[in-house]
Amino acid sequence: MTDAPERILVLLKPDAVERRLTGEILRRIEAKGYDIIALKLVLPDAEVLAAHYAEHVNKPFYPGVVDYMTRGPVVAVVVEGQRVVEGVRSLMGATDPTAAAPGTIRGDLGRDWGTNAIQNLVHGSDSPASAQREIAIWFPELDA
Ligand code: TYD
Ligand code: MG
Repeated sequence: MTDAPERILVLLKPDAVERRLTGEILRRIEAKGYDIIALKLVLPDAEVLAAHYAEHVNKPFYPGVVDYMTRGPVVAVVVEGQRVVEGVRSLMGATDPTAAAPGTIRGDLGRDWGTNAIQNLVHGSDSPASAQREIAIWFPELDA
């Protein structure tokens, strides 16, 4: 018996939807070999974002994050596979798209747009524990 497969919460942020990059980003995740097990288009409100970004709500950049993340719909996705948190974080690249390595989603598709918040196309949970917490926020209808 292997352990239950790990899950990660991925958000394709408003810039990914606006730039019609959702297919390209999902393609990279699927091509790596992970499974999409839930997916929906959502217009986030301030409340869901405050829960999601609980560790950042008091940071100076947080108001910019709220403006960015509420300006249009995001695609929320649950992705599953062995070591998927590590694997998807590696596919995403560094937080700052200017510094993110070429070959990564942020490094290949992102740049600095001169905005207050960093616009970096994609969110991925940073640990299995964060993933479980975030999946409960975005997909309360899913079984844990
Ligand atoms: P963080 O969790 O540090 O990065 P990651 O998304 O790579 O896990 O930050 C969450 C988001 O907050 C990040 O994707 C973009 C935004 N952010 C800024 O706008 N400015 C900043 O200085 C930082 C650190 C983050
Ligand atoms: Mg993070």
